[in-house]
Amino acid sequence: MEKKLRELLENAKTEIDLADSMDILESTRVKYLGKKGELTQILRGMGSLSPEERPVVGKVANEVRETIQVLIENAKAAIRDRALERQLESEVIDITMPGKEIELGNKHPLTQSFDELKNIFIGMGFKIAEGPEVETVYYNFDALNAPANHPSRDMSDTFYINDDIVLRTQTSPVQVRAMEKMKPPIRIISPGRCFRNDTPDATHSPMFHQLEGLVIDKGITLGDLKGTLEVFVKAFLGENTKIKFRPHYFPFTEPSAEVDASCFKCGGVGCNFCKGSGWIELLGAGMVHPNVLRNGGIDPEEYGGFAFGMGIDRLTMLKYGIDDIRLFFENDMRFLKQF
Ligand code: PHE
Repeated sequence: MEKKLRELLENAKTEIDLADSMDILESTRVKYLGKKGELTQILRGMGSLSPEERPVVGKVANEVRETIQVLIENAKAAIRDRALERQLESEVIDITMPGKEIELGNKHPLTQSFDELKNIFIGMGFKIAEGPEVETVYYNFDALNAPANHPSRDMSDTFYINDDIVLRTQTSPVQVRAMEKMKPPIRIISPGRCFRNDTPDATHSPMFHQLEGLVIDKGITLGDLKGTLEVFVKAFLGENTKIKFRPHYFPFTEPSAEVDASCFKCGGVGCNFCKGSGWIELLGAGMVHPNVLRNGGIDPEEYGGFAFGMGIDRLTMLKYGIDDIRLFFENDMRFLKQF
């Protein structure tokens, strides 16, 4: 019996040596050590042994069992190690390889313009005020002294949400909102989005951007307006830029003007850019109408002021030589990355 056991051990050793997978090792274990395995078969014959032989054979049987168990465990561990090694080899990271470049975006050209304009006006002591893009008819038209039959109120020019609410057509409603909230002296600019019912083309977009300016204090004159705009224009378009006032009409300012800047491409001689005139239309401005002051809760006998409003899309187009306003809103990286 002892001999049988030693043979069994030898056979098991050979099989374990040859085994190259977990599955094979497991079936080898079952084959030799399992409940119906070969070792059990042999041990069934123990009954026929003499009482002296029994402990001797039992000891050998235990040794064989333990040896086989250890051999199988070792072989399994070796297979696991090899699998891990292979995995590690296949997952090696080459830390000398160049990394993936992270593409950084840049500020939208309109945002760049706004940033620059804000810096200039903050430098002159202005604060930034904001108003809602969805605005009441009251602030967008009535409070701004717009006559009931003013053409800009028309459905074809203004997006109406309902009879009383519109998408603001200008940043000017912020004027009265600011007057209601603040006490003079008031010095604010208000950048933001505006909307008009325009069919998009190279120079029109139903969504566009304006920057409003408002100053209210005692003794404000047209000279203050001119001086302020002159400082602004020189900072934004260049030291040598001149401005010119053309009489105009706005319901909320009196007198009103359209302000032109000398062409910053040709310096005023005339070129393609300014269509030969030497001047570029820049903004609308004027002295705040007494009715608007009253609507803002400010006594026009005591205070006066000026306001101005400019289209930022057009200004940015002029500055960078962009020939189609729609490019601003198409989110084409090839366009946006140029600025
Ligand atoms: N709101 C006017 C426009 O959209 C511009 C403007 C603002 C004119 C302030 C005068 C004063 O054309």
